[in-house]
Amino acid sequence: MLMKNYRDFETYTKRFPDENGRFGEYGGQYLPPELQVAFEEISDAYESICHSAKFINELRRIRKEFQGRPTPVYHCERLSNLLGQCQIYLKREDLNHTGAHKLNHCMGEGLLATYLGKKKLIAETGAGQHGVALATAAAYFGLECDIYMGEVDIKKQAPNVSRMKILGARVIPVSHGLKTLKEAVDSAFAAYLKEYKTAIYCIGSALGPHPFPKMVRDFQSIVGIEARQQFLEMTGIMPDVVCACVGGGSNAAGMFIPFLDAPVEIVGVEPMGRGANVGDNAASITYGKKGVLHGFESYLLQDENGEPQPVYSVASGLDYPGVGPEHAYLHDIGRVKYDYVTDDEAMEAFFMLSRYEGIIPALESSHAVAYAIRYARTHKSGSILVNLSGRGDKDMDYVLEHYGDKYLK
Ligand SMILES: Cc1ncc(COP(=O)(O)O)c(C=O)c1O
Repeated sequence: MLMKNYRDFETYTKRFPDENGRFGEYGGQYLPPELQVAFEEISDAYESICHSAKFINELRRIRKEFQGRPTPVYHCERLSNLLGQCQIYLKREDLNHTGAHKLNHCMGEGLLATYLGKKKLIAETGAGQHGVALATAAAYFGLECDIYMGEVDIKKQAPNVSRMKILGARVIPVSHGLKTLKEAVDSAFAAYLKEYKTAIYCIGSALGPHPFPKMVRDFQSIVGIEARQQFLEMTGIMPDVVCACVGGGSNAAGMFIPFLDAPVEIVGVEPMGRGANVGDNAASITYGKKGVLHGFESYLLQDENGEPQPVYSVASGLDYPGVGPEHAYLHDIGRVKYDYVTDDEAMEAFFMLSRYEGIIPALESSHAVAYAIRYARTHKSGSILVNLSGRGDKDMDYVLEHYGDKYLK
């Protein structure tokens, strides 16, 4: 069904995904038979538990007392004045405990795991933020935790590797293929296949087989719910634009869904890396085609045989050859616009936000900030609300080593 007007989205979350986990033609569940049972168990448990007052109240308490929610919305006055008249605002998910939005779904998934009587949480990580968040959830709930991480990312995101280990997780290096996020997902899936009776696979984004795209979106929606109310309280109106970076799509889904029925332009920002050539970016919606990977159907960067193509972004959390199925759907129906930002633009944004506002953004989030900077340079009025999905402490060593000469005086 094609939805043309923002008001068509008032009942959107009740209608999407459908009972087969589909967002239009995307999503679904492509699994070996033995895992179908495990995913059915997760799906049934989620559907019954997520409506129970006990689960909702416990999650609310965790968000307030442990995570420090609500995170604030912040007006970047200095940066906005520097660029012109358009006003830039940030939803400060970098201030969520552990420094990124990832904890929003990890605490939900951890709570679900305890309801299911599971003993272990398994996941992959790219930038290490999901790994840190899941290790934190495991420590909180008293569960074991195995995190699969590509060797390239282990080197690039060393501080997060240390954090995961200190939190008690096992970090398992992945050494095949490009040794980054896609391979880490492959390995985590393989491990889960052996342990699904006692473990739960907590996918790091709004992707994977049903019910994960829905579950992660639902847990992340707190970001947009808070932001909408906070922005309205601050300014009395809606922002003109809401934007977020898109890797797998969890922070973007959380930010966008509560704004779908509002008169707001919504923009997802993909990583254009070094440029348009195959292997130089990870812009799955911009260049991808429909296909199946890791148990779900969506836009994928793939070759003519349907094999995933090599991907790259300076931001480890964005270099995945696919995107969550809900984003594929929102793109096709035209409700969300997907644009892109290069490594160089993201790096400029990283330093501008640091120097003009005293906020060091994660390289992933810098893509959304870069889009806002571009928007503010080209629009003489209005406002743009950015989901600042995480903080950049994990990226500082890498940035200084590779970009220090250019940006440091
Ligand atoms: C801070 C931050 N933002 C964004 C992302 C991208 O993930 P997603 O698209 O699921 O929000 C990551 C992934 O690691 C991240 O660490």
